Amino acid sequence: MSSAIHAFTVYWRNYYCATLISEQVYMNPEVVLVHLEDHSLDIKQANLKAQGVAGINLDERQPFCVYIGRRITKSSRDLIQKYRLPDRAYIHTTSMSAELSFISANMAWARPGTLMMDPFAGTGSFLVACAEFGAQTLGSDIDPRVIRGTCGIGEGTVDDNFRQYGTTANYLGLNIMDFSNLPLRKQEWLDSIICDPPYGFREGARKVRIGRLRCGEDNKYPLSSLLLDLLEFAAQHLVVGGRLVYWLPMMREEFSVERIPLHPSMRLVAHASDSMKLGAARYLITMHKIAPYTPGQLEPTEEQEKVFNNYREKMFKEGEWADEDKPAPKPRRKGDARKET
Ligand SMILES: C[S@@+](CC[C@H](N)C(=O)[O-])C[C@H]1O[C@@H](n2cnc3c(N)ncnc32)[C@H](O)[C@@H]1O
Repeated sequence: MSSAIHAFTVYWRNYYCATLISEQVYMNPEVVLVHLEDHSLDIKQANLKAQGVAGINLDERQPFCVYIGRRITKSSRDLIQKYRLPDRAYIHTTSMSAELSFISANMAWARPGTLMMDPFAGTGSFLVACAEFGAQTLGSDIDPRVIRGTCGIGEGTVDDNFRQYGTTANYLGLNIMDFSNLPLRKQEWLDSIICDPPYGFREGARKVRIGRLRCGEDNKYPLSSLLLDLLEFAAQHLVVGGRLVYWLPMMREEFSVERIPLHPSMRLVAHASDSMKLGAARYLITMHKIAPYTPGQLEPTEEQEKVFNNYREKMFKEGEWADEDKPAPKPRRKGDARKET
């Protein structure tokens, strides 16, 4: 092996656990080779049974599959630690975890020279993730307390989060706006939209009632309508080639790819699930704008109303909360204990 090559071997179990088992280090290598051994969990289960019957020693088993490849880039997993919620200046019970925020930012292709918006920005988890990747970011939220920082855990505002990570130059600001009635010019000016729409689990969706400027119980904004508005908003405001990335809450048993709402200007690129308790899940949906705006579906179908609405009620219907499943109580004062969700 030439001194210009740095090679290492990784023990890889069922695609989610990788452990470095050997490494040969050379200074400033030109080429880095990776050798991955896949020791599947299923194989291990099978082996455990076989061990009892035939005395097979697991350690002597050959890997299920071996991959050898050239490393073309490094991951940024260290950012998960740097951006962990418990250390962040301003968070709320609805703040998205650092890991899922960075995954979302990756799916949206956040990078220098792009403009990203979160129309349900909350404490700005997606904004800070995209700013870290070099994108210019802006957001909006219906709740003035979110923007003033009077409902968070700890002292601070979204601005403080940017200051904390040294990315203020990539933050264009937050506005108080109702997504159902956004006062934005309908033009293609955004490269990406990332959001975690409210679905009534910890934070219900509301609309501002025109003329009264307040949101209350009677101004609910059903997820079935919100999703169609989101697709319409993306089709109108994204540049062609831009991306919409959002978290879709659904009960696991009700999810199917065919039920993901579509739009004539947008193509579904990917969906991935994050399982939750009580039969619930949220799905990371990635859509790519493939054509200039044409109007999409405006009213939800009966089926869409049935599967997208009342998420919270469906979860509770599954049964009583076990103590450990209960959501954290809403903080009453600043300075309460912090917990990564
Ligand atoms: C799930 S939280 C988003 C949390 C955010 N991703 C974070 O990490 O902090 C949903 C947000 O949507 C906001 N919201 C609810 N209805 C809205 C509406 N009609 N227009 C704009 N924002 C709304 C809520 O105030 C809440 O902050």
